Amino acid sequence: MGKLLLRNATIVTGNRTVSGCLGTDKGLIQGIWEGDNCPESAREEAEVLDLKGWVILPGVIDAHVHFRDPGMTQKADIGSESRAALLGGVTSFIDMPNTQPPTTDETTLDAKREKARKTSWCHYGFHLGATNGNPDFLRRAAQSPDLRPHFGGIKVFMGSSTGGMLIDRNDILDHIFSIPGKPVLVHCEDENTIRKNLISARLRYGDDIPVWMHPYIRSREACIRSTKRALELASLHGTRLHLLHITTAEELDLIRRAKDKGMSVTAETSANYLWLSENDYLSKGALIKCNPAVKTVGDCAALRHAVLDGTIDTIGSDHAPHLMTEKRNPYMQCPSGMPTLQESLSVMLTVARQEGLSLPRLADLMATGAARIFGIRGRGILAPGMAADLTIVDPAAEFTVSKPAYKCGWSPYEGVTLCGAVRMVFLDGKPVVKDGIVLPGSPNGTALTFDA
Ligand code: DOR
Ligand code: ZN
Repeated sequence: MGKLLLRNATIVTGNRTVSGCLGTDKGLIQGIWEGDNCPESAREEAEVLDLKGWVILPGVIDAHVHFRDPGMTQKADIGSESRAALLGGVTSFIDMPNTQPPTTDETTLDAKREKARKTSWCHYGFHLGATNGNPDFLRRAAQSPDLRPHFGGIKVFMGSSTGGMLIDRNDILDHIFSIPGKPVLVHCEDENTIRKNLISARLRYGDDIPVWMHPYIRSREACIRSTKRALELASLHGTRLHLLHITTAEELDLIRRAKDKGMSVTAETSANYLWLSENDYLSKGALIKCNPAVKTVGDCAALRHAVLDGTIDTIGSDHAPHLMTEKRNPYMQCPSGMPTLQESLSVMLTVARQEGLSLPRLADLMATGAARIFGIRGRGILAPGMAADLTIVDPAAEFTVSKPAYKCGWSPYEGVTLCGAVRMVFLDGKPVVKDGIVLPGSPNGTALTFDA
């Protein structure tokens, strides 16, 4: 692996930025120096690149993607989506378990790891899914020295969504929430509330439910009730709770209170909920139908505030590709989810500019926070000795989103003007993206290790 010296850059390192240069050697960050004050050893035999004042961020770690592999590879696969990831500045992903078969035991986890080893363009990891039948396995896996480093966390659907992995038995939830050693990731939407709302909507609209009803069917009450329950369970069992894709102002208040009480809770939202609101159903229709639903303008503002004040710990794209033909179906047959991992960083850079979010805070939301929450070894922060996964952005560059590289071929952001373009990406010190294309080569991702 050749040495690199990236000079004339703004380098985001922990909670500060340095104007200067960053050196890499053998795939690792060798040092970060103010101005041109690098030692001679960093210059020796290094390829020197002038970054024209651009920003070096830690490569994005997207800990919430649905790559559909195995079982739904007509929509997406690890190869296609991990390539798109690189174009969006994402150098590591952690994939959710609602594939076919679902990732709920050692065999299915191993199969995914093997597929990723052969086909992933960026670094990869997987979450295990909870079912009514596997709590004993999950408990063992969370402790086992052999298995523990190979998965991120335990995903619990406390609301049904793509993949039908709903858990609604109290005894099973108690069992899972009392598992120590791994974060328990929860999708919170109360099933009974959704069911009741759906019955009312069908009485009113028959089979012709308009998509703008989605946030009234998968309602804020459903989210709030379920998040409350997850927090109660976590309080009871001392769970390391990670709340996924938070969408309402009320849930943010619940999370603030839990954090104030000293509970071990972290919260994620996606860039989508910071960008979209229910007004967008008019123009985007079912393209933005996802679970939990995109909610009000007020929720969007509250989420932006929560990103600034630290109530939200991390951003996951919740990249959930479906075919355009499926998304054109009527409400009841239209699958929930939208593909967004390639745009997530630029949306966040735009939000950062609008809200005055600092670059160190942005890096924490996009990379460092996920590394901390899941204990990812050696990645997620720019510091000597860490992997040289680098995402170079021009935060001032405006661009209009064009057709993404996803296998499904569409994004809800197409045609939207964003601020903050990805200029280059380095994976373990090796250039992989330049001028908006993935450089020739072969998939080179490695397995994330969850033991930090
Ligand atoms: O909208 C969603 N789509 N929410 C989920 O929880 C799952 C995801 C998917 O896998 O399609
Ligand atoms: Zn998801």
